[in-house]
Amino acid sequence: MKILIVGSGGREHALAWSFKRRNQDRTIFCADGNAGISNLAECVDISPDDIEGLAEFAANEKIDLTFVGGETSLALGIVDRFEQAGLQIIGPTQSAARLESSKAFAKDFMEKHRIPTAAYANCSSAEEAITRLESGEFGDEETPVVVKADGLAAGKGVVVAVDRKEAIAAVNALFEGHLVSKSAVGSLVLEECLFGKEVSLIMFSDGKNFALMPPTRDHKRIGEGDTGDNTGGMGTVTDSSLLSKEQTKEIADSIIRPTLEGAAADGFPVTGILFLGLMMTEDGPKVLEYNVRFGDPETQAILVNLETDLAEICDAMLQGSLDRLVINWKEGSSACVILAAENYPKTPRKGDRINGLEEASASENVVVFHSGTAMDSDGYVVTAGGRVLGVTAVASNLSNSLHRAYKAANKISWEGMYFRRDIGK
Ligand code: AMP
Ligand code: GLY
Repeated sequence: MKILIVGSGGREHALAWSFKRRNQDRTIFCADGNAGISNLAECVDISPDDIEGLAEFAANEKIDLTFVGGETSLALGIVDRFEQAGLQIIGPTQSAARLESSKAFAKDFMEKHRIPTAAYANCSSAEEAITRLESGEFGDEETPVVVKADGLAAGKGVVVAVDRKEAIAAVNALFEGHLVSKSAVGSLVLEECLFGKEVSLIMFSDGKNFALMPPTRDHKRIGEGDTGDNTGGMGTVTDSSLLSKEQTKEIADSIIRPTLEGAAADGFPVTGILFLGLMMTEDGPKVLEYNVRFGDPETQAILVNLETDLAEICDAMLQGSLDRLVINWKEGSSACVILAAENYPKTPRKGDRINGLEEASASENVVVFHSGTAMDSDGYVVTAGGRVLGVTAVASNLSNSLHRAYKAANKISWEGMYFRRDIGK
């Protein structure tokens, strides 16, 4: 079997590892990969944005299955293009990907299908947003409000403003292109600020049936105690205690089924991976965001728990028979701690040689997934991105998995290496 993975980060390394784990004979290609992925797969120099190049490669190589890691390729319509060419691919179509690629679209969709989410207003200019803020519909001057760029912004397009003044400053900064590129800010969404515990729930979907993965919690801020700038994610844990059985049932009934049924009724069934960013409020679970792909580093922590062959799950998603497949997960917990380069998430320092990788990887029940790494001309693994490695461990409970991950992380070093010591706390 030949599999193509699209992307180059820790998520894609975990996907390659998972496909290979149950069957070493599979040939994996990754576009465009990293130093860790190159140990499992043949890395091909095609950018995840180059949809035509990827389709051509998949057809020429007779790829049996393509798995898309990130949102950019999905928003560009890679799934539509592959399906037109009769190539098997896991992911949503471009229209279904709008649930992630346009926050305004997602909010209108949730309102239409009565899916619990924060009260909102879609605004197409700074004047309109400021008028709506000053009207008092989002509370008085002291009330926190959330300001979000409509388009894809890699986590940088959201400002949780503590009061109206900060919200207005965020509106201006977004429209002036100070926070994210102007193309991500054709319009913006104002949202009521929700309070509660955040949890992410990711599932496989065949458009009709879904299969939940273990619930996860991500730590998005760079600093300990959830302080400082937002990042792509500094660490994730999976643990059954993150959601009770009752909460999971409520989410399935009030959010997941209406989402899958609503999307199918609107003509864009959501297939592949559906990721719910949730706030567990006093009034029940509410959707903060939809993603239509695996998270990074959620994937690393989730896939180390997967007992069933990922290729078998992909097959069930393509056949629409997820309801007939039993998916097995390890009992217990997992943790992924991200080791980042100096100055991440601003302009990370690159090109430093990484020490201790082999010792860390040899630790029991630990897998070190590569995010931003490359091989230098002498064959050493060097840093090549902001998030560099995801040290991932499984154990029978959360504190043991964290202990294992940190023990392995402490064996790794490079000039300027940084990681949070409070993941899972
Ligand atoms: P998003 O990309 O929409 O998930 O937003 C990024 C982060 O901003 C979330 O993980 C939350 O921590 C925070 N956030 C987003 N929307 C809200 C909201 N309505 N109320 C409170 N916090 C929010
Ligand atoms: N870790 C959050 C994301 O992948 O969107």
